[in-house]
Amino acid sequence: MKRHPSLHPLSQHHHFALIQALEMRRATEAPAEKRAAAVQRQAGKFIRFWHKTGIVHFREEEEVLLPEYARHTRLDLDTEVMQILADHAEIRAAVSDFERRLADNIPVDAKEMARIGKLLHDHVRLEENKVFPRIEKALGEERLNAMGRRLTRLHSKNDVCEM
Ligand SMILES: [Fe+2]
Ligand SMILES: [Fe+2]
Repeated sequence: MKRHPSLHPLSQHHHFALIQALEMRRATEAPAEKRAAAVQRQAGKFIRFWHKTGIVHFREEEEVLLPEYARHTRLDLDTEVMQILADHAEIRAAVSDFERRLADNIPVDAKEMARIGKLLHDHVRLEENKVFPRIEKALGEERLNAMGRRLTRLHSKNDVCEM
């Protein structure tokens, strides 16, 4: 399904999030002797991606997109929206765990990174394939355009991170 232009800034972030998810999986599948270093390096890249892109992206979804959708539907009746919010909390927890480990020079667990990579991938797919189309339909053209302007205001303070 073609994405409404108002949501392009978010879909652009998603593209880079999927690359991060792929890189996380690759790091965890590196040959045994290289795995620990690959995982640690990728944890650092993911933290940089988070600071440059992830933080603002979550704000755009939690502070702009979902409140707008809440005008049209009770969010707790939409189990996929509830899942999105649960994913956000879990991703935030993983980020702070990775960050603490990197700061203390403690290895990031490869299994944990694989789990977070998959979570991130599935999260983006759920938003793009299920939730965004539903929000587009609920909001309609006028509200989507107004929301798009608010997203762009937040978005422009932050360059997309390609790493
Ligand atoms: Fe999200
Ligand atoms: Fe998203």
